[in-house]
Amino acid sequence: MSGPEARAPRAPARFTAPPDGRLDASMLEVYDRDGFLILDGCVPSDDCDAVQTRIAQLVDAFDPTTTRTVFSTASQAHARDAYFRDSGGAIRFFYEDGALDADGNLVVPKARALNKIGHALHDLDPVFASISRHARFAGLAASLGLAAPLLLQSMVIFKQPHIGGAVDWHQDLTFLHTTPPSVVGFWLALDDADIDNGCLLAIPGGHRGPLRQRFRYQDGALITQTLDATPWPAGPAVALEAPRGSVVVLHGLLPHASSANRSARSRHAYSLHLIDGTTAYAADNWLQRPELPLRGFA
Ligand code: FE2
Repeated sequence: MSGPEARAPRAPARFTAPPDGRLDASMLEVYDRDGFLILDGCVPSDDCDAVQTRIAQLVDAFDPTTTRTVFSTASQAHARDAYFRDSGGAIRFFYEDGALDADGNLVVPKARALNKIGHALHDLDPVFASISRHARFAGLAASLGLAAPLLLQSMVIFKQPHIGGAVDWHQDLTFLHTTPPSVVGFWLALDDADIDNGCLLAIPGGHRGPLRQRFRYQDGALITQTLDATPWPAGPAVALEAPRGSVVVLHGLLPHASSANRSARSRHAYSLHLIDGTTAYAADNWLQRPELPLRGFA
């Protein structure tokens, strides 16, 4: 008898988002089968506008000279490490490869140089707090079975025209480990995301495989530890094309990736990761927020 993998379609299933985020039985069945769910029309255009306006304001206010030392190749690696390590409880700006010269000076306009902003926008910025704690996401978290949802990590991902880099295959549980596994991602398309500008790619059913790696602290250093050398499923991978306002729900064990953006169009996205507060969050996870307690939807 063929398993669920054999039935997974090459074109991913997609649904019109329920207004309150509450998934019905057919949606949950597809999520259990594939490890992801595409919910079209989840976030209204006005809300996407508000988020994009806020992103433009944050970028405008960001002074690259304040991080020039951090990102110059001549600076000590630990300055870059510290800027990243502390970003779990902050709003920090990260560049695309090749956006800076050896002295840390921008070689492309600031607005086109950034790879992402992270990782506590949802707690430190009122516009992101509002979008992240909307009832639709609370409903979504509840119907996915998170008993005590906690908003852990948020990112603006730019995937800039022409230079936006690829993201390799990974599982989000690698970075945000809990016991038992609980991390789930809500990935909001702020621009139309398609195969040409680097939309998400996923392997349907791949969330039933093992966790391959952990990214964690060991003796004060961040390391990538291989737990299981099982290769990624051979496929078929599918393109999770998502028009603006769609949300892709990602299971924490789902192998996913994205291609480089070789198009002239931007592919902005807002990504939010939640965990269940009834699970144990690993003390050696990269993301620690000693001064910013985790909060749920209240
Ligand atoms: Fe991811």
